[in-house]
Amino acid sequence: MKFFVDTANLDQIREAQDLGVLDGVTTNPSLMAKEGITGKENILNHYKAICEIVDGDVSAEVIATDFEGMVREGEELAALNPQIVVKLPMIKDGIKAAKYFKDKGIKTNVTLVFSAGQALLAAKAGATYVSPFIGRLDDISTDGLNLIAEIREIYDNYGFETQILAASVRHTMHVLNCAKIGADVMTGPLSSILGLLKHPLTDIGLEKFLADYKKGN
Ligand code: E4P
Repeated sequence: MKFFVDTANLDQIREAQDLGVLDGVTTNPSLMAKEGITGKENILNHYKAICEIVDGDVSAEVIATDFEGMVREGEELAALNPQIVVKLPMIKDGIKAAKYFKDKGIKTNVTLVFSAGQALLAAKAGATYVSPFIGRLDDISTDGLNLIAEIREIYDNYGFETQILAASVRHTMHVLNCAKIGADVMTGPLSSILGLLKHPLTDIGLEKFLADYKKGN
């Protein structure tokens, strides 16, 4: 399973990259705003800075909601760096744009996916990634992981190549359960990756090993 971090914070992206397990980054307009990155030029420069830090795919979201606008913005984003994946909203024109970019050989990530039907449509359009938001479904008492399982089954039935990018991951159990179900990618905060490190028996065991070493030296 690929690990993406879902942030526009350069320090966190660097920390994840330094750990050696990072496969990419996802961003969205809210994450950009959280870092105080506003205005078109600043946003484009920020994407370039992210691409310089990571080796893998970097999702950059369009703001337009009409086909022509998405194509214009997506082409501008894709021209920044070959690592850029054009992130498109799961609406009618977003699906049309996913097909357009597929035919042009430009990678896409169809975002704001909350149903298996939407994921089926994104795969039919040839999206590179589909982003079901599991945390936001959990927030409204709907099982987000169940959606990942449904999409996995549908994609496997037909051999769709679209990668399931489990998004809106909030914690380590989301990461683990997505791995069990077979999501291709997960994107979450750095804490959801670092949380995988933790086990009290590891800390106790290491402390004991070091204490025993000191006794004999
Ligand atoms: C996905 O690409 C989104 O950026 C993200 O995962 C949304 O997560 P949230 O529900 O925690 O805002």
